[in-house]
Amino acid sequence: MNLLFIGDVVGSPGREMIKEYVPKLKEKFRPQITIINGENAAGGKGITEKIYREFLETGAQAITLGNHAWDNREVFEFIDDAKYLVRPANFPEGAPGKGIVYLKLNELEVAIINLQGRTFMNPLDCPFKKADELIEAARARTPFIFVDFHAEVTSEKQAMGWYLDGRVSAVVGTHTHVQTADNRILPGGTGYLSDVGMTGAYDGILGVEKEAVLKRFLTSLPVRFEVPTSGRNQLSAVSIELDRKTGFTKKIERILISDDHPFYS
Ligand SMILES: [Fe+2]
Ligand SMILES: [Fe+2]
Repeated sequence: MNLLFIGDVVGSPGREMIKEYVPKLKEKFRPQITIINGENAAGGKGITEKIYREFLETGAQAITLGNHAWDNREVFEFIDDAKYLVRPANFPEGAPGKGIVYLKLNELEVAIINLQGRTFMNPLDCPFKKADELIEAARARTPFIFVDFHAEVTSEKQAMGWYLDGRVSAVVGTHTHVQTADNRILPGGTGYLSDVGMTGAYDGILGVEKEAVLKRFLTSLPVRFEVPTSGRNQLSAVSIELDRKTGFTKKIERILISDDHPFYS
C-alpha cells in the first residue's frame, strides 16, 4: 500500500509542477493514495474551489491545509461541502471544515489528519491532545492513519513524531517549505519526515519572489509578496510504503525535483 504526499504547493508555478509530475510520480511510485498540501495553492495564499477540484482531477484523493487555510475568502463558500479538504484539526471549536477525512479504498479505509504546531505560530488548541482524540477514534476504524503536521520548528515536529510513534502510519511535516533529510522509520513503525518541502518557484525564497523578501530583510518595510510568474520550478514530495496488515511504514523516501535534482522515471 503506497502513499504519495506532495508538500506545500505555492501558486501557479506549484500547480504547473503538479500537472506535469504527478502523473509521472504515480507511474513510478504507484500510490493508491495521493495527498497534496494546498495551503498556498491560490497565488501563495489559501485555496479556491477551482484549484481544489483541479487537484482532485490530477489524481489527488485529499488536500490538506495549514496556517494559510483562510487566506482566500472563497474557501468559506465551499469548505463545508469539500469532502476531501482537511484543515488543521486543532483550530478552535466552531471553525468551518474538518481536521480528519476518511478515504475508502476497496475494503480498506485511510484516515488523513491535518494538525498545526504552536511554536512561533498563531495560538491554537493543543495539537498533541487533539491528535490523541482523533487517533483513538481513527484506530477503531483503521490502522492506516496519515498525519500532516503543519509546524514551524523541527523540535515540535520531532516531538509529534515520537508522540505518535506506534499509533499512526506516518507523520510528515509541512510549512517551512524546505525539505529536511531526516526521513526515517521510528521504532514503533511510524514513518517520519520533519518537512516535505515546497512545490513551486525554484529561484524565489520559499516560493515567492526573492526581491520582495530581500527588500523586507534589508529595509524592514512592509512589502507585498508575489509568486513568480516565470522561471524554474521545483517539486517536493514523499513516498511512503505501508504494510498492508499493520498499517505501519516499511519504506519512506524523499522526492525532490528541480534542475539540480532531475527526475528519473
Ligand atoms: Fe506553506
Ligand atoms: Fe504554512
